[in-house]
Formats: sequence, C-alpha cells, structure tokens
Amino acid sequence: MPTTLKITPPLEGVLCITLNRPEALNALNTQLLGELADTLNSADCDDNVRAVVITGSAKAFAAGADINEMAERDLVGMLEDPRQHHWATITRFRKPIIAAVNGYALGGGCELAMHADIIIAGESALFGQPEINLGIMPGAGGTQRLLRAVGKSLATQMVLTGEPISARRALEAGLISEITQPELTLERAMAIATRIAAKAPLAVRLARESLHKAMDTDLATGLRFERHAFTLLAGTADRKEGIRAFQEKRPATFQGH
Ligand code: CAA
Repeated sequence: MPTTLKITPPLEGVLCITLNRPEALNALNTQLLGELADTLNSADCDDNVRAVVITGSAKAFAAGADINEMAERDLVGMLEDPRQHHWATITRFRKPIIAAVNGYALGGGCELAMHADIIIAGESALFGQPEINLGIMPGAGGTQRLLRAVGKSLATQMVLTGEPISARRALEAGLISEITQPELTLERAMAIATRIAAKAPLAVRLARESLHKAMDTDLATGLRFERHAFTLLAGTADRKEGIRAFQEKRPATFQGH
C-alpha cells in the first residue's frame, strides 16, 4: 500500500491519485516517485482505468524534488539515482493524465504537472523551475517540456531567474488549459477525465500518441503518424459502434476493441 499517495479506486474509468506528503509540501522523494510509478504501471494494464487525475493539496501540488534527499547524493549517487527510472515509467504511461494543480508546482512538481496531458489549475497556483537558486538546473524535463509549452523567451526567463509564474500567466502562455477557483480544481479535472474515459479507449490512445508526436518530431513525420493511426482505427469495433450510434441518433457505448 502506498504511504505517500492517496488513491481513490476508479470511478467511471477515472483513477484519482493524491500526492500526500504534507510535511514536505509533497516534495517528490524517491519513495513517492516510486509509488506513483508503480501505481501508474498497474493502472496501465487495468481496463477499469481509462484516465488518471493527479492532484496535491491546497497549498502544494508538489514543491519539487526532495532537497534533503538530493543533498545526500554525490555524482555517483546522481548517476545511479533510481528516480530517473520512476520518471521514465511515468513518461511511458499510455493513458491520459489530467493534473489538478493548486498552490506550488515547483521544480520536479512543475515537471510532474508537465507530464500530464492536460493541466487545470486553481487561480492561486504557482508554476516555476527554481532549481537555479540551488545551483542546479531542471532535470526531469523542465527545460525541454517547458520550452515546448510556453516558448523560448518565457521558459528561459523562468529557468534562469527561478521566478515562478501565476496561474493566469500560465494560462496565457499555454502551459495550462483552464483556471478554476481553488476548491473546484479537482472537480473540474475529474469532469474532464470522466468525459475522456467515456470515449473509445483505442481512439484516445492513438490520438494522444499522435499529439505527443507533434512535440518531438517534424511535421511530415507527425502527419504520417497521424494518418497511420487514423487508418488503424478503421479496424476497431468501437469505430463501427461510434458511427452506427451517430446514425441511429443514440449515445455510443465503447468497449475498447
Ligand atoms: N524538498 C524538501 N522539503 C521541502 C521542499 C523540498 N523541495 N519544499 C518544502 N519543503 C519542506 C520545508 O523544508 C518545510 O519543512 P519543515 O517544516 O520541516 O521546515 C516544509 O516543507 C514547509 O515548507 P516551508 O516552510 O518552506 O513553506 P513556505 O510556505 O515558507 O515556502 C516554498 C514554500 C516557497 C515552496 C518553499 O518551501 C521552497 O522554496 N521550497 C523549495 C522549492 C524548490 O526549490 N524546488 C525545486 C527542488 S529541485 C528539483 O525539483 C529538481 C528536479 O526535480 C530535477
């Protein structure tokens, strides 16, 4: 049983994971990251899970890597750091993740939010990469994903000054898709996840993969991937069901094959 996470069993296909290290503002120590990776690994193979919501507390989504733990690692310790395997597992997860962010999303916390497919934030959320203040730099995607999300100028400003941005600024820059009142952030993220969970899972999976391709490939390759994925879906029962349901003017019931 995880001790650094609270896990709500899947409801309407949505698994909700709450980061739970209140004593350290949900700092991502090895144990928490490992438990998160294990939970996502199991959820990947669980047909009852079609989308995941990750959230934190009102004060902190996550305040970054655990600095006290990091302080004990020398160069060899960093090279052999198990956390990189946990990050890789989180990156490989194949189902949509919605991050519901309130309070601090700093360093590894901002990087974790950026692993999500969609970020919904409360109006008091703060996003930042303050590693530079510790004499280090982001190491879990903070330079790569942030730049792709908000562009070169703002990403550089955030990474080199360490100053966080508000939820409003994050919305303008395209880092997040919606702002809510803090007490409604989780509810809104769950509603979006529930909508996605009701769609045809294979279509969701391939559409998501195709969107990811847009982040790390050239246009021609991305377009080819999209066309292949679109064509592959012609072989699914859910496509037949979706089209038939439209013609019969009824809601579709997707089975995942
Ligand atoms: N690691 C370990 N402990 C942390 C932590 C972190 N990242 N962030 C906060 N805490 C702990 C504090 O030490 C404090 O513990 P004690 O009560 O035992 O002293 C507790 O959480 C509450 O924190 P504060 O008293 O500091 O709360 P605050 O409201 O005054 O300030 C804050 C909040 C601005 C977020 C401040 O805690 C802070 O600056 N935290 C560090 C943020 C940071 O630098 N993150 C980047 C880490 S490096 C990284 O993330 C690299 C990577 O992934 C690759």
